[in-house]
Amino acid sequence: MQKVAPTNIVAIVRNPETINDFKEQGVIIRQADYNDYETLKQAFKGVEKALQISTIGVDVETAKQQEKNVVNAMAKNNIKHIVYTSMVQARPNTIFQGTETQYHTEELIKKTNIPYTFFRNTMYMEAIPELIGNALLTNVIRYPSGKGKVSFVSRTDIAEAIANVLTEPTHQNQTYEITGNTAYSFAELAQLINAEKKMNIQHIDIADTDFKEELMSYQIPVEVADLLVSMANGIKAGEFSFTSDSLEKLLGRKSLSLNEYVKTLHTAV
Ligand SMILES: NC(=O)c1ccc[n+]([C@@H]2O[C@H](COP(=O)([O-])OP(=O)(O)OC[C@H]3O[C@@H](n4cnc5c(N)ncnc54)[C@H](OP(=O)(O)O)[C@@H]3O)[C@@H](O)[C@H]2O)c1
Repeated sequence: MQKVAPTNIVAIVRNPETINDFKEQGVIIRQADYNDYETLKQAFKGVEKALQISTIGVDVETAKQQEKNVVNAMAKNNIKHIVYTSMVQARPNTIFQGTETQYHTEELIKKTNIPYTFFRNTMYMEAIPELIGNALLTNVIRYPSGKGKVSFVSRTDIAEAIANVLTEPTHQNQTYEITGNTAYSFAELAQLINAEKKMNIQHIDIADTDFKEELMSYQIPVEVADLLVSMANGIKAGEFSFTSDSLEKLLGRKSLSLNEYVKTLHTAV
């Protein structure tokens, strides 16, 4: 459901040509780079409420600086409400390296005294094709997550909930843990795919070292491989298993179940 006119939305991107379809719908496009504070300061001019999407920066110090540039630029422009996509149960000293940046940014945003809403997202269902690789062809999920569980959530549901939060007055200074209703181990994910798609997939809990070697055999840079190993170790330690009904409350309806999502999986990943 459309909540505001596209002409009242500003999209700030590094490469405007990548979102020409939004431009055609009337969205105002402005160019800025997370690494360039001046471009960000210009881009936020006249913006009232902002959605800050966390950076994918692999190097934690670079990522923290990028997000600090965005927060400073929003503060400079007297933004009235910041919605920020953080990590489920964000806190210091997690095993998954990515959480460090997001917790740091939450603290920076709080210090600005601008009303905020934190979406602490667990892992996306839409990340499953990358996590399970070509399991639909090989019948094997090779992933070092042990018995650790993930409360997978649909990115589409998160987008709708964020639109609700940005257009309702009741979410200021709230932190929402955004998760599915149930957490699944990778063995349980395999069983679910098997039941839905009449397959015989098994989860093999491989060693970290084997996982890293496999990633690097696909020319994945070592720092990205280390980040992905830390993610699997975070899953093993339960860092993505928390469940909450916040998302369904924000949506006012049931969220997408993992059963429904796995029906959409196909072999071309
Ligand atoms: N919870 C989960 O399961 C999950 C899964 C995946 C991702 N995430 C998180 O979601 C966030 C986005 O990830 P994604 O998968 O959507 O990444 P993505 O598809 O690679 O998109 C990254 C976006 O950031 C832009 N960008 C990169 N460097 C930039 C810079 N210096 N200045 C301005 N824009 C820049 C890119 O712009 P260009 O188009 O110009 O390159 C691109 O639009 C990350 O924080 C990631 O950790 C979470």
